[in-house]
Amino acid sequence: MSLHDLGSILSIERSGHAFPWTETVFKDCFKPGYDCWGLWSGGELHGFAILARQYDELHLLNLCIHRSFQGAGLGRRLLRYAVAQAQAASARCMLLEVRASNRAAIALYVNEGFATIGYRKDYYPAGNGREDAQVMSLNLHHSP
Ligand SMILES: CC(C)(COP(=O)(O)OP(=O)(O)OC[C@H]1O[C@@H](n2cnc3c(N)ncnc32)[C@H](O)[C@@H]1OP(=O)(O)O)[C@@H](O)C(=O)NCCC(=O)NCCS
Repeated sequence: MSLHDLGSILSIERSGHAFPWTETVFKDCFKPGYDCWGLWSGGELHGFAILARQYDELHLLNLCIHRSFQGAGLGRRLLRYAVAQAQAASARCMLLEVRASNRAAIALYVNEGFATIGYRKDYYPAGNGREDAQVMSLNLHHSP
């Protein structure tokens, strides 16, 4: 993706998250050190994945499919693409935080091989206070 996609990115983000990232946060993700992958269909952006590169780790900061297109396999396709790109770049592992209540996302990550490695207490804002993050990791090392 590029900064030209910002309008579509914000619309997808606001359709998918109760506490969406701001425009400023997304703009920062187009600076060096980040990977911003988009998934298009018919010329329309349907979802995105944003990752930060830190040494040999990839941190999946955001994965979002527009609400209208969820449940059709796009989230899995985008996650697999991001994992394949990370492997091609010889990254060692992919890390992420996810709301402990986000059953759909956690099911996707578990199905794709991520393991829970911990929790961060009160990490996210929530309707009635704060919510814990579940920290998950995927080992990207493969035997030759
Ligand atoms: C989480 C999200 C990325 C999944 O993408 P998606 O395109 O809707 O999911 P897919 O159709 O690719 O489904 C892949 C797997 O995810 C899980 N899943 C998806 N929707 C689910 C739901 N409503 N309930 C339970 N599991 C679900 C399932 O394991 C599914 O595999 P299956 O169909 O073989 O059972 C998407 O729903 C989304 O953008 N949600 C809002 C933002 C968000 O929560 N992002 C993740 C945290 S940063």
